[in-house]
Amino acid sequence: MLKYIDEMTLKGRRVLMRVDFNVPLDESGRITDDNRIRAALPSIRFAIEAGARLILCSHLGKPKGVMSEKYSLGPAAKRLGELLGRDVPLAHDCIGPDVNKMVEGLKDGDVLLLENLRFHDGETKNDPDFAGALASLAEVYVNDAFAVSHRAHASVVGVTKFISQRAAGFLLKKELLYFKKALGEPLRPLTAILGGAKVSSKLGALENILPRVDKMIIGGAMANTFLLAGGYKIGSSFIEAALVGTARKIMEKAKKLDVKFYLPVDFVIAQELKKDVATKIVASQEIPSGWMALDTGPASAILFREVIEDAGTIVWNGPMGAFEFDPFSRGTMAMAQAVGAGHALSIVGGGDTDAAIHKAGEVENISYMSTGGGAFLELLEGKELPGIAALKGA
Ligand code: 3PG
Repeated sequence: MLKYIDEMTLKGRRVLMRVDFNVPLDESGRITDDNRIRAALPSIRFAIEAGARLILCSHLGKPKGVMSEKYSLGPAAKRLGELLGRDVPLAHDCIGPDVNKMVEGLKDGDVLLLENLRFHDGETKNDPDFAGALASLAEVYVNDAFAVSHRAHASVVGVTKFISQRAAGFLLKKELLYFKKALGEPLRPLTAILGGAKVSSKLGALENILPRVDKMIIGGAMANTFLLAGGYKIGSSFIEAALVGTARKIMEKAKKLDVKFYLPVDFVIAQELKKDVATKIVASQEIPSGWMALDTGPASAILFREVIEDAGTIVWNGPMGAFEFDPFSRGTMAMAQAVGAGHALSIVGGGDTDAAIHKAGEVENISYMSTGGGAFLELLEGKELPGIAALKGA
């Protein structure tokens, strides 16, 4: 059984809270999106107000076991301090005698942030010695890092072997709740929108959710493989040749299950993927050789909007085209606007999709933006996240 932070005795206890402060930074080390820090605030505030001696830990980027200023959690400590209206000290490491001393000095209601966990190899390797050292800092463990709960790392899984008092934080609770609402007890029609470049990276999700959804919209370069499977000529568009047969089977299964399956009906095409390039809009049947489909076209936007207007619940992961290039961003922007304007409960996950919603200015109109990328996708695949299984003691 999963326990939650508000079911634990925290007063006077040393509480190790795994958060995901893996936030984007610009070249000068400034945080460009602090959403993940804000998302952890309810649990952090709760623990502080309950009188915990709070020890926060997180990773940032992939420093691969090497300490470096570039991957320091310094900016996160500063930002958290601003949001809490108090100083948040940053330990110079996440384990070791200096850290022990800082932890010993904590008083009820104090908060300390440990330095990047991935400065130690033991974190990603789930090394028991590293996990044990980390766990020895605390009496209670809280996981509020949904976005990294698909990783069987020391701070996510390993520590749970050493701490019997463990619970999920409010963010983790919220993510699981929304996910359950969307896929477990959806208001129908339940419409899934899957995009992005590769069928291979979405195959698990596609197969798992197909029997649960009423409608499925496929966009992004992964749509090309489906079109090829349907007998279309797609010029030199990106495809995964090895998955054409699988794509055909998925479409056949959709038919059998009576899932309405929507592919783009037109595309923005070009001969190269770059910013200043000549583009054309053509129907799906008319992609000339030497040209690539790089975004869904205006007719697809109208079709998809109609599908979305009728939805009761929407789950969206993956952009409709190469939206980071302006000429190929309209399909994804139109999708974001359509989801934002619709009346459905909308759950959106994944880094690119998140960026697209921000770019379209639709954040306020989405029911729930997941903080997870890989973790969100693994939930869509029907997997239990290792971090959640470990909390339960499985
Ligand atoms: C993420 O950004 O999806 C999480 O923080 C996990 O990061 P990772 O992919 O580097 O493990």
